[in-house]
Amino acid sequence: MKMEKNAKIFVAGSNGLAGSAIVRKLSNEGYYNLLIPSSNELDLRINEKVLSFFIKEQPEYVFFAAGTVGGIMANKTYPADFISNNISIILNTLQASLQTGVKKLLYLGSSCIYPKHSEQPIKEEYLLSGFLEESNRPYAIAKIAGIELCQSFNKQFNTDYICLMPTNLFGINDNYDSQNSHLVAALIRKFYEAKLQGNKIVEIWGTGSPKREILCSDELADASLYFMNTYSGNDIINIGSGVDYTISEIASFIKDISGFDGEIKYDLSKPNGTPRKLLDSSRAELLGWKSKSDLLNDLSKAYDDFDKTFQLSKKK
Ligand SMILES: NC(=O)c1ccc[n+]([C@@H]2O[C@H](COP(=O)([O-])OP(=O)(O)OC[C@H]3O[C@@H](n4cnc5c(N)ncnc54)[C@H](OP(=O)(O)O)[C@@H]3O)[C@@H](O)[C@H]2O)c1
Repeated sequence: MKMEKNAKIFVAGSNGLAGSAIVRKLSNEGYYNLLIPSSNELDLRINEKVLSFFIKEQPEYVFFAAGTVGGIMANKTYPADFISNNISIILNTLQASLQTGVKKLLYLGSSCIYPKHSEQPIKEEYLLSGFLEESNRPYAIAKIAGIELCQSFNKQFNTDYICLMPTNLFGINDNYDSQNSHLVAALIRKFYEAKLQGNKIVEIWGTGSPKREILCSDELADASLYFMNTYSGNDIINIGSGVDYTISEIASFIKDISGFDGEIKYDLSKPNGTPRKLLDSSRAELLGWKSKSDLLNDLSKAYDDFDKTFQLSKKK
């Protein structure tokens, strides 16, 4: 059941936050036969290109971490892209995998596709049990279709496709775009810039009291390899750290790492969002995987990565 070290492995989305962490993990563990095309080299939306790639390269295993991913603004502005791209890239990949006899595929769902008013912590069985968050519904429906596709292929074609549900990620290769980044990347950028520009105040939306679970992408990569090598089945598996922090706690961790010595101001005119978002990751634990996250260390690594990216962009 375990992948051989010389197995041919396709990591879809290998330049992204999750995909690049999976590539690092595989390389560190001695897997060397990796197929890691960028979206320019292989656009997964184009069925014929995907099929020819699979026929030519004959991957044995697929880690599927590709996607049209973005924040609230992007989801609102390009809803058609979010639903159609995300459905076509997984459908094309699954069809090509089936046709060329891929041994096993791992698909990444997301904690943000659970119903908006899910009980906390969120259990896997809450998927499809209530209304979705309006702002990312097209994306969520596409991601849910991806899960349903994997499960349906397994039932009808006896394939071995598994689905993980990661919580909010951060880490090396994150998206630091000021309009389009997630919580940790946005905070890192704010404190970094405030320190650099000598500002005295960093402003954060809302009261700082909502609680969020965050996980380093390297931990997700660890879980991905673990479940690829040990699990087969149609049950989706939550992947979280098991701990949530208030936004103000997360902000003060990053403030300390950055060395910013000014003040954090909460903009109470801005919305707080959901009060709490925490996955119940007990299924993963029962199956033998638990996050070993050292949050402060992981946040420091992410901060250093932003620093490196920022320095490089200045040299260009
Ligand atoms: N980030 C999170 O907090 C989080 C949390 C839970 C789940 N996830 C899931 O993890 C997956 C990856 O997310 P991420 O945060 O790593 O995203 P990301 O950093 O934006 O990376 C997305 C990757 O997808 C590739 N891609 C996009 N469109 C493509 C296409 N048409 N053809 C081929 N490749 C394409 C991109 O390739 P290029 O860079 O070469 O263009 C990029 O490598 C998504 O399915 C997401 O739902 C993410």
